[in-house]
Amino acid sequence: MGAPAGVAVLGSTGSVGRSALEVIARFPDKFRVTALCAGRNAKRLGEQARRFRPSLVCLSDESAAKRLSGLPRGTRAVFGEEGMTEAVCASGTRVVLAAASGVASIRPVIAAAGKGKRIALANKELLVMAGEFLVKAARAGKAGILPVDSEHSAVFQAIEGHRREDILRIILTASGGPFRNHTLRRMRTATVAEALGHPVWRMGDKITVDSATLMNKGLEVIEATWLFGLPPSKIDVLIHPQSAVHSMVEYRDGSLIAQLGIPDMRIPIGYALSYPERLPLELPRFMPHRMDGWTFERPDLRRFPALSIAYAAAVAGGTAPAAMNAANEVAVEAFLAGCIRFTDIVGVVEKLMAGWRRETGPVTLADVLDADVVARGEARRLISGKRGYTKR
Ligand SMILES: NC(=O)c1ccc[n+]([C@@H]2O[C@H](COP(=O)([O-])OP(=O)(O)OC[C@H]3O[C@@H](n4cnc5c(N)ncnc54)[C@H](OP(=O)(O)O)[C@@H]3O)[C@@H](O)[C@H]2O)c1
Repeated sequence: MGAPAGVAVLGSTGSVGRSALEVIARFPDKFRVTALCAGRNAKRLGEQARRFRPSLVCLSDESAAKRLSGLPRGTRAVFGEEGMTEAVCASGTRVVLAAASGVASIRPVIAAAGKGKRIALANKELLVMAGEFLVKAARAGKAGILPVDSEHSAVFQAIEGHRREDILRIILTASGGPFRNHTLRRMRTATVAEALGHPVWRMGDKITVDSATLMNKGLEVIEATWLFGLPPSKIDVLIHPQSAVHSMVEYRDGSLIAQLGIPDMRIPIGYALSYPERLPLELPRFMPHRMDGWTFERPDLRRFPALSIAYAAAVAGGTAPAAMNAANEVAVEAFLAGCIRFTDIVGVVEKLMAGWRRETGPVTLADVLDADVVARGEARRLISGKRGYTKR
């Protein structure tokens, strides 16, 4: 048996990050934590550092890093993009679990991929914004990008060993979220608590709201185009409220290959960390005979327009996906803060995208990051112009 693989966990204090640390803690002969990175939660990061004893801990800014106390000997605190880059590129790091929310980790993750580190990717926004650059860097560094999103992990498993040209389409499944059966009128008055009540998965607030608008599925469509090198026209979405089938791939001979399992993020996280090995996770087993009434239905694009907006952004390419993602992030934040209604989230994104300029030539990473800033400003302007808007 080789030495344990060094893992840098970005977003270690979040929902995916904590699940990843659970998996890592169970297999000390296979993994050791080399770095832990979070936003501003110095307390929890400090506790994790005392438990996992990484060489580096990183927070988003200096003032947050200064609040870190009681770090074990041998653990150094760094901060910001530079600190995160040091953490992911360190020679002892073999795998980077990219699970920090937002866009702060874009450059560090691209740098790590370029250096040949395996990227276990949860943060779909990175591929949505900068898919071209991340995929190129991973190719140059001969690094793999292993999906952590359960749907993409399912597709990854259903695609292995098959020829791309034999694929008719990928079918991403979606639970449909808490408002699957709500009318648009009812959705207009949906509260934050209702939007956070996901019927299947327990996740961070932002992705939970994205699941309720179906923007999460839209982001996943774009994520899939980059991960699997397929055009948006070959990626379909079906609502499957039972969440047993995590996704499937249809081949031209009529075969459909699906991956099934209980909804537990430790499964795709474990697979992304240990691929091609499967870890003995000892989770409750999935019993197909105990499930009845599996259903699959087409999403209702009238009630959930986010999906159409995401397809259009995927087709437009350039900075359009980055702009859409940025506007969505700002709008979700505003909804969570009680400033706008649930249906305004997609309304803001739709308005912004309607006026978004299309590039005529290739875009650079700097263009994408710039589009992110511009779209955030524009989304804030649209939100502050809304009736009933209350400034915090
Ligand atoms: N949750 C899921 O089941 C799931 C499934 C598939 C994909 N994903 C994706 O995984 C990512 C994380 O989701 P989550 O649900 O785990 O989110 P979450 O619970 O909100 O956690 C977000 C994590 O990112 C950290 N973070 C925030 N800003 C940062 C910054 N500037 N620099 C470094 N770290 C920063 C947070 O640190 P603080 O605690 O200090 O704020 C926290 O550790 C998202 O991109 C999401 O779409 C999640």
